[in-house]
Amino acid sequence: MIDKTLIKHKIVPWSYLQGKNVCKATAAKFYWPNALISVLMFLALSMPVIANADRQSAELPSHVSKHLMSTMRNNLESLAHITYLLADSKYAEAADMAENNLGMSSMEIHFKKFVGKYLPKGMRKISKQMHKAASDFALSARETEKDGDVNRSFSALSQVMNQCVACHDLYRVNRAD
Ligand code: HEC
Repeated sequence: MIDKTLIKHKIVPWSYLQGKNVCKATAAKFYWPNALISVLMFLALSMPVIANADRQSAELPSHVSKHLMSTMRNNLESLAHITYLLADSKYAEAADMAENNLGMSSMEIHFKKFVGKYLPKGMRKISKQMHKAASDFALSARETEKDGDVNRSFSALSQVMNQCVACHDLYRVNRAD
């Protein structure tokens, strides 16, 4: 027997059941999980939109935003090279690549003087953490060069990537390109 209260509250539309060649009890049972799944899917799909709407926009002069985005593309390229070098057991080269392009050394060139002063405080903080993590990775890779423990290097590299993800989750920029 189908539960009358479900129909009363329009949880199981009567029109849905009429004309269907299914036993009513099965129809009632079958409908509930579907409704639940639909609600969960709606929530899951709307999450990224909510997260994106919450990202803070860093209002930068257009030449700064352009420079920052080109630095970003360079960041990704460096990560790609570093991963390739690790896979090729070229740990010292991976260390140099990380230190020069993403580490504390690169922070002096790219951020402090030119871009850094325009960034919101929180973004500057994550940026510093990323440069620090990249320098830590460089140290780990030099250790791996000696003892062959590649897991240490991968774990240090994931710390660098966590900072990329953290900042992208929280900030966006006004695009000039
Ligand atoms: C301190 C903050 C911060 C950190 C750290 C950071 N990014 Fe970004 N990145 C941004 C912002 C903000 C944008 C612009 C996103 C937007 O406006 O939608 C961006 C954009 C990018 C883009 C797109 C560039 C383009 O031309 O469209 C790439 C690629 C990128 N980042 C890679 C990286 C990688 C790889 C790392 C880590 C090694 C990293 N970023 C670390 C803030 C950051």
